Amino acid sequence: MLQGPPGTGKTLLAISLAKAYKASYYIIDGSPDLDRRDIEGNWELLKGETKFNYGPLTLAIKDANNEGIAFIIINEINAIRENEQISLNSLLSENHINLISKGFEKHELNSESKLIIIGTMNKGVIGINKLQESFEDRFIITPEISYPLKNKEIDIASQISGYKKKIAEIVVDAARQIRKQAIQDYSITKIFSTRLVVNFCMLISLMPPKYLKHNIENVIINKLGTTTEEKKSIAMILDGKMFETKLKEELISKKTKLMSWECKLDKDSLDHLLTNTKACFTNYISKYGRSNAFRHNGNIM
Ligand SMILES: Nc1ncnc2c1ncn2[C@@H]1O[C@H](COP(=O)(O)OP(=O)(O)O)[C@@H](O)[C@H]1O
Ligand SMILES: [Mg+2]
Repeated sequence: MLQGPPGTGKTLLAISLAKAYKASYYIIDGSPDLDRRDIEGNWELLKGETKFNYGPLTLAIKDANNEGIAFIIINEINAIRENEQISLNSLLSENHINLISKGFEKHELNSESKLIIIGTMNKGVIGINKLQESFEDRFIITPEISYPLKNKEIDIASQISGYKKKIAEIVVDAARQIRKQAIQDYSITKIFSTRLVVNFCMLISLMPPKYLKHNIENVIINKLGTTTEEKKSIAMILDGKMFETKLKEELISKKTKLMSWECKLDKDSLDHLLTNTKACFTNYISKYGRSNAFRHNGNIM
């Protein structure tokens, strides 16, 4: 069970683990609307006949039995209603589930197979269910995930956004100052997450510098600040750090490699790209059929 503030990479860590094992994984997004039947599987009435749709739990058991290992990742696990939490109990401790909607049919994990269940939850978020003690107890390890150390966070932001380290440094520095203030006197209630650091770095690398001010306002100030006071105090911290000025300098400095927004496609590359895209699309339609390529509203699947 991974616990910690939002946007600290809990889900990413869980997915990365599953990928490292080359295992199949199923993600369940916890919400109070989630029904036991959604995660176990449910019956559907189709043209007068009923058909059982397997849910993520039953599919994961099947995969684990076939392939030796599978993962179930349950995001925001504490948003799941207490009754539905119970349905996971027998899987966690006794390696099987009894399907409520299928006459309590038993689905069991082979003794030599591994099914790894990772729950993630945002600590300290108000207004959601408590985890049942019996349920929480069944998770073997419950590490606290927190924000990375400064240099690590800079590495993460520059690696993921593929952007200059100096820019990541400026953004991380501001993020940490805003976090500090949030913890000190609660004058800022939303936390500047690593996710936001990464997203902001990516965004400014994709857009010309003339949008910088607009991006700072909309992506940082308005997003983190709920009240006018909060917005003011975030803006003040950013000003104190000369956030916009420093970033602008970096963005327009010619020492930088070509920015994404400066890259222009020449005509040949564009023609090549279009021809390839059309070929892929035609191929897709011939393979899956026109009716499967479009949704009912006309969007392409
Ligand atoms: N420690 C980290 N390492 C790498 N990327 C991170 C880290 N923390 C946050 N991120 C970035 O933030 C995004 C969202 O993280 P996520 O796993 O959804 O957070 P959480 O589940 O804790 O809310 C990731 O896709 C990644 O881009
Ligand atoms: Mg998450």
